[in-house]
Amino acid sequence: MGAAEVVTGIVVSGLGEGAFFMSIDHYRKEIEKKLGFGAYPGTLNIKVKKIYIDLLKNVECARISGFKSGNKSFGGAACYAASINGVKGAIIMPDLTKHKNVIEFIAPVHLRSALKIKDGNEVELELK
Ligand code: CDP
Repeated sequence: MGAAEVVTGIVVSGLGEGAFFMSIDHYRKEIEKKLGFGAYPGTLNIKVKKIYIDLLKNVECARISGFKSGNKSFGGAACYAASINGVKGAIIMPDLTKHKNVIEFIAPVHLRSALKIKDGNEVELELK
């Protein structure tokens, strides 16, 4: 995924974990500070070809730090300013993830409503 290259993917559902993590104060503050927006509490999952995820590793990112709470560790993440069907937000790739070919997208708005998209729909991602 290079600058100005458009990547297409398919909207899929996750297990509701995005909403949990995106409600944590530490992550909310980090995203506000590093990306400059208050994110809707959740992530939109987009299935893409695995090659795009590998390519992202060579792109400059904003780092979201992890933290410890009691004896629990919460991982960091790499964020890439991007747009989805023209709406600005960011791709967030947690350091610890089970996803192999899924990109998680965060934005100030609820994207399913704003873009009128549902599972199975094709979307276009573009790095900023
Ligand atoms: O359940 P799932 O893990 O797929 O999603 P979630 O992270 O718990 O987010 C809750 C719901 O909001 C899901 O349907 C997401 O696809 C959606 N979402 C959205 O439309 N726009 C965002 N900016 C973030 C999440």
